[in-house]
Amino acid sequence: MTVQQIPKASIPDTVGFLANVILPTIAKGVLIRRPGVVGFAERLQLDKRAVRYVQRMRGKYGPDPVILQVPALSQLLILNEDDVRMVLENSPEPFAVATTIKIAKASHFEPHNVLISHGPERTIRRQFNEQVLELQNPVHRMAEAFVNVVYGEAAQILAQAQRDGELTWEQFFRSWYRVVRVVIFGEGARDDESLTDMLATLRRRSNWAFLMPKRRGLRKDFISRIQDHLNRAEPGSLAHIIANMPTTDTTAPEQQIPQWLFAFDPAGMTTFRALAVLAAQPDQMQRARQEIADDDTGRQHLPFLRACILESLRLWPTTPLLLRESTRETTWNNGVLPEGMGIMIYAPFFHRDNQNLSYADTFTPNIWLESLSPDDWPFVPFSGGPGRCPGRHLVLLVTSAMLAALIENYQFALISDKPLDGSKPLPATLDNYTVRFEVNSEPSYAGQQR
Ligand code: HEM
Repeated sequence: MTVQQIPKASIPDTVGFLANVILPTIAKGVLIRRPGVVGFAERLQLDKRAVRYVQRMRGKYGPDPVILQVPALSQLLILNEDDVRMVLENSPEPFAVATTIKIAKASHFEPHNVLISHGPERTIRRQFNEQVLELQNPVHRMAEAFVNVVYGEAAQILAQAQRDGELTWEQFFRSWYRVVRVVIFGEGARDDESLTDMLATLRRRSNWAFLMPKRRGLRKDFISRIQDHLNRAEPGSLAHIIANMPTTDTTAPEQQIPQWLFAFDPAGMTTFRALAVLAAQPDQMQRARQEIADDDTGRQHLPFLRACILESLRLWPTTPLLLRESTRETTWNNGVLPEGMGIMIYAPFFHRDNQNLSYADTFTPNIWLESLSPDDWPFVPFSGGPGRCPGRHLVLLVTSAMLAALIENYQFALISDKPLDGSKPLPATLDNYTVRFEVNSEPSYAGQQR
């Protein structure tokens, strides 16, 4: 009996997919964004083209997956949500999280990270990440300390914005990373910008994967700087938790942290984009402020603001490509997939599928509060299954606290060259680097201090 192979996309469709989906994603920068290209992508709305292209492929090939035949890098493209769920829930076996492409990229700065580990090493590193980041706990045990750090830094952002007459991405980002370093390592790392600069250099190289030689010396310096910060084990930081838990050489905590430092970057982008949408939609802003006014959790659990962050991630997912690799032959609806094959989930296609979602292009935070729980499908901003982001709740805690701290007593007006229009479909690409706000203290909210 001959075994039916999964159908292949035609060569023109494969080339079209590479040109419309992969090329813009890679050009924008997978591990660190290239701001100029993000601006270009916004002007041409390249992400919209990409989603429409995949929709056309689904129209042509049907909802079952197709193989994109690329020399040495063939990929299975997933076209329906059930397959998204099936692939993610069956990671890391038979669908490994540690794919050839990810290993080529992430090994530039974190060769022993969970993301690119497989087998028993992955189990140990995954457990470590879940425990420290508290994947199972919506409110991290150190939430109070973290929220205080956020509020302290937000006060500085606001003061600076008042002095400058505007809030730009650069100002926000510098402060954001101070928060990140303090949350991970404590006050002693607050101003260690060279740590995050080293990581940025390594990430720029990692964008080129195997096309760029590794800077092993810089990587070593970077990892040993992380170790120095960990050694202080400052109370109130994640480093303190790490110092008080059993670890081995295999756990390699110092190699798990680059991923945290790196992944807080898209969390900052998401916060800034959520702020932009709230500034463009007064009714949603009002609801957010009401939640803050009514809050009795010390800003540790703000469901509506968390939903705003999730919605910002649905609209502009910061990990657009979820990749897996088959570790053995598997059988699908429409045929058999051989071992060693790449599998690709293009998140924006599911998040912005206007053929199936009435709210595809509108800011609808309610979906995260009502009909969908965050673990629902087809939205996968934090991936899903056993490989899902272990930092998910921590991210939601810190980002929602930052939003709260900024809008609690201040009004934000978009003054970007192309401000968002809350009454129109939201753009498929939103360039966070050029978003700017005018910030004014809000008399009616003054006095509602924490
Ligand atoms: C907006 C912010 C973030 C988003 C959207 C995000 C999203 C994701 C996604 C989609 C994955 C899985 C990739 C895959 O399936 O291959 C992932 C993995 C991971 N994330 Fe996040 N992440 C964010 C921030 C963070 C932060 C701040 C941390 C740590 C503090 C973190 C820690 C991790 C780790 C350790 C992994 C690897 C998990 C594994 O391979 O088992 N992430 N993240």
